Amino acid sequence: MVTIAVTGKGGTGKTIISALLIHFLSKKYDLLAVDADPDSNLPDALGVTPRKTLGEIREVFQVSRDEMGTLNKEQWLEGKIYSEAITETDDYDLLVMGRPEGEGCYCFANSLLRGVLRKLMKHYDVVVIDTEAGLEHFSRGTISGADYILVVTDMSRKGLSTAKRIKELSSDLKLNFKKIYLVGNRIMNEDGAEVIKKFADEEGLELLELLPYSEEIVKFDIEGKPVVMLDDNSDYSLRVKKIAEKLVGDGNG
Ligand SMILES: Nc1ncnc2c1ncn2[C@@H]1O[C@H](COP(=O)(O)OP(=O)(O)OP(=O)(O)O)[C@@H](O)[C@H]1O
Ligand SMILES: [Mg+2]
Repeated sequence: MVTIAVTGKGGTGKTIISALLIHFLSKKYDLLAVDADPDSNLPDALGVTPRKTLGEIREVFQVSRDEMGTLNKEQWLEGKIYSEAITETDDYDLLVMGRPEGEGCYCFANSLLRGVLRKLMKHYDVVVIDTEAGLEHFSRGTISGADYILVVTDMSRKGLSTAKRIKELSSDLKLNFKKIYLVGNRIMNEDGAEVIKKFADEEGLELLELLPYSEEIVKFDIEGKPVVMLDDNSDYSLRVKKIAEKLVGDGNG
């Protein structure tokens, strides 16, 4: 199994890139798409109507312990996730996490949920996680099992400084990932490309790909069209496809 977590500052293109990675990888692999952003919009980018969120399942879980019968909590929860939360499409399954409960997530239900989620992920060849902006997912443990962390940045100073903090945090926390990569997005010109290349050099981050600014993506956004309907042979799509091949090709998938 290969797990890819897409991180970065707000609005840098995490969801667009996640959606296109899912689009390409699901043609070849058994894939689970995870929307770990409480302000969920991966389903829109994929053009899929999601079922219940994991958060909603957990709420049910807290009020219906009697319902479990002979199953232990883990088995019951796993069944519930499959029957109510996993959205199946022809090409992949989608799971939307929804809102986390209160402060942190140290309560029993949440740790149970994480355990079940980890088990569930093992049923797939590839898991792609679209995370929420910033650094919150580190404290939630959302990406603790990821093999590859993609840090998406645009040319902005803020995008780069978030990227730097993600890199620092991921080494401080000694996460067990194989590699962390930088991905430049919405690059408008050579100067922008240079800024990101220089940053990657200085921070010792491997630059996986530079993705251009795309009028098509802007148009799709305005028209409310899912980004996965982009032409597979557009420059943008081909570059994301290259990322997909690189990550899963040199992984164990
Ligand atoms: N390469 C690009 N060219 C043009 N527009 C882009 C590009 N990448 C992303 N966008 C636009 O930027 C906006 C943010 O993209 P996206 O939702 O993927 O970012 P995000 O990092 O997931 O944001 P959030 O942190 O809010 O989840 C969207 O309106 C999207 O259409
Ligand atoms: Mg997003």
